[in-house]
Amino acid sequence: MQDLLSALLAKASSEMPAVTTRPDFEAAKARYVGPNGELTALMKQMSAVPKEQKPAIGKLVNEAKTALQAHLDAALSRIEAAALAAQLGPAVDPTLPSPDRVLGTQHPLTLVREEMTRILRKVGFTVVEGPEVETEYYCFDALNTPADHPARDAQDTFYLPETARFGNVAKKNPDEKYLLRTHTSSVQIRTLLKGQPPIRIVSPGRVYRRDTTDATHSANFHQLECLYVDKNVTVRDLKALLDYIFASLLGKDTKTRFRPHYFGYTEPSFEVDLSARHLPKVNKEWIEIGGCGMVDPIVFKDVGYDPEVWSGYAFGMGLERLAMLLYGIDDIRYFYQNDARFLRQFA
Ligand code: DAH
Repeated sequence: MQDLLSALLAKASSEMPAVTTRPDFEAAKARYVGPNGELTALMKQMSAVPKEQKPAIGKLVNEAKTALQAHLDAALSRIEAAALAAQLGPAVDPTLPSPDRVLGTQHPLTLVREEMTRILRKVGFTVVEGPEVETEYYCFDALNTPADHPARDAQDTFYLPETARFGNVAKKNPDEKYLLRTHTSSVQIRTLLKGQPPIRIVSPGRVYRRDTTDATHSANFHQLECLYVDKNVTVRDLKALLDYIFASLLGKDTKTRFRPHYFGYTEPSFEVDLSARHLPKVNKEWIEIGGCGMVDPIVFKDVGYDPEVWSGYAFGMGLERLAMLLYGIDDIRYFYQNDARFLRQFA
């Protein structure tokens, strides 16, 4: 019996290391310990062993069984480890740089926004932000825009349901509505109410209008608003600043002109046109770029500033329009499609 057991173990120890697949393993296991297995057969012979030899032989059989099980376990864990390694593929070092790394690029709107704020910071403006969800007070009322003004129409403005609550945007009047701001001019009011003149702020940000999307319109786009409040501010200062920023952004051959216009919050008010024929793709002499004017005394009074003491100018412009001019982009929709072929051109 002892010889048989040793022979069996010797066979198992030479055979098992060659077993490399799960089916082969199952077959080998069956050959040793299955119902018709070799060890099973030896164990069945125990009944024929004389009674006085049973303890000794039984011990040998048990030892052989344990040793065989160890061979089987080692083979199985080797096979499972190999299967897992095959599934995982070659080892990866996550601390190495990715082999297919693609460095992102800044969005053209980000580039123009950063450049404009850089230009304005150089002459003393501070960047501030305002909320995109606004109340009628900041977006319209305090900007001297009467209740029946077409810009306030639900056809032009996205109003939020009356049940909407925004804990971080306080309502001035309990019955006014929340809306998505239609322009960044709302930040003028927030700044005036918070600050002490002199005030010099630039506020870039996203705005929303119920526009149907086409090559030049988008229901949300970006603006940049500036406000300057001090003593003895004049239209000359306004014109000088606009000349400076557009020449800095688009080149020194850029010219600006003012066309009289109406905005409720500035008086006088103008639309600003640009001439930048040196830019590729600019095929018009004058291109409208934004609105501006001198802060209306009504606005000053409403926020508690004495218009006899304080004066100021404000302007707002679309960032998409500027980026389109600067880079020669002819469709606003490119900005929002996230097409890497477009975005990579501004690296
Ligand atoms: N808010 C205006 C618009 O969205 C632009 C504008 C006009 C801003 C006159 C101003 C301003 O600050 O004084 O079209």
